[in-house]
Amino acid sequence: MSSSSDLAHQIAEALEQATAALQAAPDVESLRRTANEHSGKGSVLVGLKATLGSIVDVEARKTAGRAINEAMQSVESMVAARLNGLERAAAQVAAAGEAMDLTEHLARRLRGHAHIVTQAWERLEDVFVGMGFKVAEGPEVETDFHNFTALNMPPNHPARSGFDTMFVKWGIPGSTLLRTHTSPVQIRVMQEWDLPIYAVMPGRVFRRDTPDATHMPVFHQIEGLVVDKGITFAHLAGTIEAFTKAFFGSDFTSRLRPNYFPFTEPSAEFDVRSSNGKWIELGGCGMVHPNVLRAGGVDPEVYTGFAFGFGIDRMAKERHDVADLRDMYANDLRFVRQF
Ligand code: PHE
Repeated sequence: MSSSSDLAHQIAEALEQATAALQAAPDVESLRRTANEHSGKGSVLVGLKATLGSIVDVEARKTAGRAINEAMQSVESMVAARLNGLERAAAQVAAAGEAMDLTEHLARRLRGHAHIVTQAWERLEDVFVGMGFKVAEGPEVETDFHNFTALNMPPNHPARSGFDTMFVKWGIPGSTLLRTHTSPVQIRVMQEWDLPIYAVMPGRVFRRDTPDATHMPVFHQIEGLVVDKGITFAHLAGTIEAFTKAFFGSDFTSRLRPNYFPFTEPSAEFDVRSSNGKWIELGGCGMVHPNVLRAGGVDPEVYTGFAFGFGIDRMAKERHDVADLRDMYANDLRFVRQF
């Protein structure tokens, strides 16, 4: 009798300790650990269960067994109740953190704006339209003919390899590609429009390049084309200078440096100088090659013309002092919202 009351006392004590420990567990993980300590394999209650066999009196053994089971059950339901409470509290904390304050925008008047490349693109169009140019666009998936052959780069021309072309699986292999520059739109405009032509052609272009701070495999150019009677290199230089002042401001100036492009002759590279004296290389230009005029259906004995092309992304990068081109395409709002 004394041993069974002793056992009842031990059960009560184990239950008391389990209760205290379970109530004190601060989170789900420690609750699970505590539950295991007080009702799992190494626990006092399981240990007591193992001693039941030594109680000789059948009734006393039954009573003790029932008491241990009840203690185990109440530990179990306590664990379930606390688990429920802890999970609900955790969900409430998470919900509070994720809650949207829909009044925020009313107070802050947060408005979106165009991407800096789109801004540059639209300003370039505005400036050229102001100078009397029309805007044209061509397809991004082009034929080899428009991208190369018609631009005085027949098959196997060495200049083709400089364009790091990405081809499209379509038709005869090598016949279809993602345009590597906006110059193919020159051909399309000459073929479709009436003369004289004063056109700018902005758009997306593609080259097989690994992205780094100054290169992206997808970028943007704006092409210019003038075809009229009596057009000379002086018109080209004057147009570039007028554009530079209109776009960048009157404290900017431009210069042309000799260069080579198969589709212009003579050809030049053009740079602009900012007020701090730094020269920025912007693009290429030149007098439209007679073969290109012919490919566009224009008689080079009657008409002459000039063309230019430069990178829009680079202009946006320079204008906003962006260190790494990749930032412009990462879609990180902390970057985008600066402008
Ligand atoms: N298409 C040339 C390029 O992508 C630029 C250019 C355009 C040069 C027009 C001359 C005339 O590099």
